[in-house]
Amino acid sequence: MQGKHLILIGFMGTGKSLIGRLLSERMELLVTDTDQEVERESGMLIPEIFAQEGEEGFRNREKRILANVLQREPQIITTGGGIVLLPENVHLMQKKGWVVALDATEEELIRRLSRDRSRPLLTGDVTEKVRRIKKERQGLYDFAHFKQDTTHNSPSKTAENIWRQWKAVFSSTKA
Ligand code: S3P
Repeated sequence: MQGKHLILIGFMGTGKSLIGRLLSERMELLVTDTDQEVERESGMLIPEIFAQEGEEGFRNREKRILANVLQREPQIITTGGGIVLLPENVHLMQKKGWVVALDATEEELIRRLSRDRSRPLLTGDVTEKVRRIKKERQGLYDFAHFKQDTTHNSPSKTAENIWRQWKAVFSSTKA
């Protein structure tokens, strides 16, 4: 696995968790999701953490978990959409991983997220929130080594594209 983690970043609803699981099957590598690890470690669901500790509490937990997971053996890591908000997270991911950014058009994200009840940042008017947060985060995912737009591609097609690129990048550096 060339010593690097394969890290998926991207806005909520871009398909990180599902594509991570597909990659995990294809590459026969462990997949760890930072949101799930935060929930496991805290014994709380993400909406409960936001309610009790605020977004700052969640970000602190997320930062700690990311640093911890990055110290494990190289694997696939899927992340929460806001992990890029802290520069120290970006720095660590750049250093220890091959980072893939997933994206989709605003319309498609709104469609995918419109019935969501699990994301505290989207309570209320999902359309307005997605538009606002997407604008606020503009450029923050651009540091990735590879980018995939998932608007029209199926999750399995996207996973295949990522896998091909991974092989192209890492087999050319092996010789
Ligand atoms: C968040 C995204 C969520 C989760 C939390 C905050 C964000 O993960 O970490 O609700 O700030 O974008 P997903 O991107 O998996 O939805």
